[in-house]
Amino acid sequence: MAAPLTPADSPVATPSPGWTRRLPKDERVFLWLLAVSVAAMTAFTIAWVAGFGDQNAPDRSVVVTPDEFRATVGAFAEKYQGEDGRVHVPPGTEAYMMAQRYAFFPELVLKAGEPYTIKIASTDVLHGWSLVGGGQNLNLEVAPNHVFELTLTPEEPGEYLIICNEYCGLGHHLMRGRIIVEE
Ligand code: CUA
Repeated sequence: MAAPLTPADSPVATPSPGWTRRLPKDERVFLWLLAVSVAAMTAFTIAWVAGFGDQNAPDRSVVVTPDEFRATVGAFAEKYQGEDGRVHVPPGTEAYMMAQRYAFFPELVLKAGEPYTIKIASTDVLHGWSLVGGGQNLNLEVAPNHVFELTLTPEEPGEYLIICNEYCGLGHHLMRGRIIVEE
């Protein structure tokens, strides 16, 4: 009868005592790289916000029902809609934009150099409202049942695309709107 096997019979070398508490070299390098990346990204973010973070966050938000908001936007659009189907907002007037799967309504025509307040709300699910360019860098989340008031002064004439940057359904990638800034 063979003698029972002991750990000394194992073909695998017995690890030295304390091996569970030591990190192998590649793990230590990885942790250092991780720490350096986190520090670099944190420093970059702080520097970026300090240097370029002059964004127009919404000043105010108001509770509204989807039906109320839809009616308000409809009346606003009807009042100022031009023959081109776009809504020409007189300076000093409050403008509205509705996010609804999968479009932003209406298309607004604004005058360069004039301050506007745009009231934005969703009538269904959470959307994103993102406009980049023309001296603006705006990114909002547009939640249902809340109107966000955005103040902006468009500086450069041009046609600006608004995209939805919050996944809102199968047509999310097609969801867009437009703001036209005229001289
Ligand atoms: Cu609306 Cu994505």
